[in-house]
Amino acid sequence: MPAGDATLMVDRDSYVAPEPPERRARKDVPGALSGSRLFDQPAHRATADAVRAFLEPPGPVAVEIGFDHGITLLSQARAHPDWRWLGFEIRRRRVQAVQAHAPPNCLPVRGDARTFLAAVLPDACVDRLDILFPTPSLKARHLLFTPELVADAWRVLRPDGVVHIKTDVPDLARLVDQLFADARPALAPPAAPERSRRERVCARDGLPVWTRAFRRPEGQPSSMNMDDGSAR
Ligand SMILES: C[S@@+](CC[C@H](N)C(=O)[O-])C[C@H]1O[C@@H](n2cnc3c(N)ncnc32)[C@H](O)[C@@H]1O
Repeated sequence: MPAGDATLMVDRDSYVAPEPPERRARKDVPGALSGSRLFDQPAHRATADAVRAFLEPPGPVAVEIGFDHGITLLSQARAHPDWRWLGFEIRRRRVQAVQAHAPPNCLPVRGDARTFLAAVLPDACVDRLDILFPTPSLKARHLLFTPELVADAWRVLRPDGVVHIKTDVPDLARLVDQLFADARPALAPPAAPERSRRERVCARDGLPVWTRAFRRPEGQPSSMNMDDGSAR
């Protein structure tokens, strides 16, 4: 599974992201939960159908990848009942705990976000895609930030949709800037009423946080901004 306890021990300052693995086919994503062929199986097809049904009605949609304890996902869904909030998390117990508290406009789903983005979400159905403090994965096959994820993000986002990323890992910020170099800079969308667990740790310990927000490319370079406004 992409996020084992080992990743919690990673030294964030010296972490270097592995080279992304080569993807064999558009809808065959390497990663947790057997990749996107998973959705050929009846039990998992039901989850995919539930996601598609959740996305079907008109209105704004946000997706959060790696919601963990669901602090930001649930607080956003409660604060913005006019939006639908779809979350992906691979840790079963976390998902079950969050599902128990989810309001009707929130769908916490267990699964690898990469497979859902590649194989389940329709084109142009998402207004904001949040990736908050992603795991600094040591294994290439667990890496979230790859060219394929970027391509899938642009596919599922509506024309004015925004990718919103926060990380306290310098090399993940570097990788994001490299992968989104062609994207247009955007204003970060409204923050959740409650900070995520990792964001609380960063605030408590005074750790630098890199925030990025992008719209689909139109030949403009991406912006660089840090929460404290300083360059690094
Ligand atoms: C470092 S934690 C951060 C959690 C939370 N967003 C925060 O800010 O505190 C990253 C989370 O992403 C989840 N995760 C990692 N790779 C994932 C993937 N491919 N799809 C869905 N969730 C993933 C992990 O299980 C973990 O809960």
